[in-house]
Amino acid sequence: MKGKVILLGVSGGIAAYKAAGLCSALVKEGAVVHVIMTESATRFIAPLTFQSLAKTAVITDIFAEPDPGEISHIALADKADLVVVAPATANVIAKAAHGLADDMLTTTLLATRVPVLFAPAMNVNMYHNPVVQDNLARLRARGWLVAEPGEGPLACGYTGRGRLPEPEELVDVIRAIFRQKKDMQGLRVLVTAGGTRERIDPVRYLTNDSSGKMGFALAEAAARRGADVTLVTGNTTLPPPANVRVVPVESALDMHRVVLDLLPQQDVVIKAAAVADYRPALAAERKIKKTGDRLTIELVRNPDILADIGTRKTDRQVIVGFAAETNDVVTNAAAKLRAKNADLIVANDVSQEGAGFGSDTNIVSLVRPDRPVRELPQMSKRDVAEAILDEILAIRKDRL
Ligand code: CTP
Repeated sequence: MKGKVILLGVSGGIAAYKAAGLCSALVKEGAVVHVIMTESATRFIAPLTFQSLAKTAVITDIFAEPDPGEISHIALADKADLVVVAPATANVIAKAAHGLADDMLTTTLLATRVPVLFAPAMNVNMYHNPVVQDNLARLRARGWLVAEPGEGPLACGYTGRGRLPEPEELVDVIRAIFRQKKDMQGLRVLVTAGGTRERIDPVRYLTNDSSGKMGFALAEAAARRGADVTLVTGNTTLPPPANVRVVPVESALDMHRVVLDLLPQQDVVIKAAAVADYRPALAAERKIKKTGDRLTIELVRNPDILADIGTRKTDRQVIVGFAAETNDVVTNAAAKLRAKNADLIVANDVSQEGAGFGSDTNIVSLVRPDRPVRELPQMSKRDVAEAILDEILAIRKDRL
């Protein structure tokens, strides 16, 4: 962190006092810290505290322009390597999510082009309020980072999620941001995600439990690492990741067409989508009316997209498939690897707690031809995504 310029935005919550600890820790790490406080933050802690710790002038008033040669919020936004808002109140989160700029902090947030980390801290019910969660999702969708608050007793007397993480924890998050690798720069990556919908009639379809979380985490991580990412996504409610081209599709046939179309331009294809193996033989044009006691829907096989990619791939392309299994995970995954001519199969036991559909974590094994299987422990889907991308880069390196 030596020499990095960090802009610390402090907004008005009781956790503002902890921001002093963070400021001091960042200074100790060698960072140059500039502090912007909102008016309400100054009710909780004095600007002089931050000035004494950071040895830089604390800015609270957008109209106090100490240097006639520059405009403070633009100069600060340009000079920073990172902006950290800690604590981020529900109010400052809402303003940032909607582009309001009525004080020094929110104006600087609009003006900056460097990474921004928000560390929310508030009452547990406020934090879980859908309005606040929607606003946080907006921030994430724009590529801003959000540090999950901790759980425990809160100043308001409640116990739950809403605590500002301790300064050391935030310093770890900040270190990780500065370490962020850009090792996928120049690579074109296609990710598929979510489940497909197979039409029965205009109001009904067959689908599966896929949430799209794993594919979205992969697309987001690859974009963060500098790749040019296209995300072909079936049904999901997730917000689109930042800096990713999103192509929504409905059925397996749609996904097949789009993916094969885009295939020649890709360096890497990751098939995290849960593609329906069968579709109704006929999608009725009108809503099917009920008739007798039984209704039979005839299903026909969908094309296997991954297998089709496997027959067309070039030597420079890396093709990754997933295997959702409930038994004999590695044996079945190895069979899929051969049958579909993939370079890597990410196998997961979807019957295990903490793995598979809908979960925020996953437990996977990485299966490659002629390599020992790599079994990864339970990790967040975000970390699994990073591990898969590392493996893809290792495959590319092995080919050199
Ligand atoms: N897949 C695909 N097209 C299909 C079915 C699956 O591209 N029609 C891909 C998935 O995206 C995944 C991999 O194939 O990357 C394995 O999917 P999975 O559902 O685990 O296996 P299937 O091949 O469908 O085999 P089975 O359902 O018999 O286990």
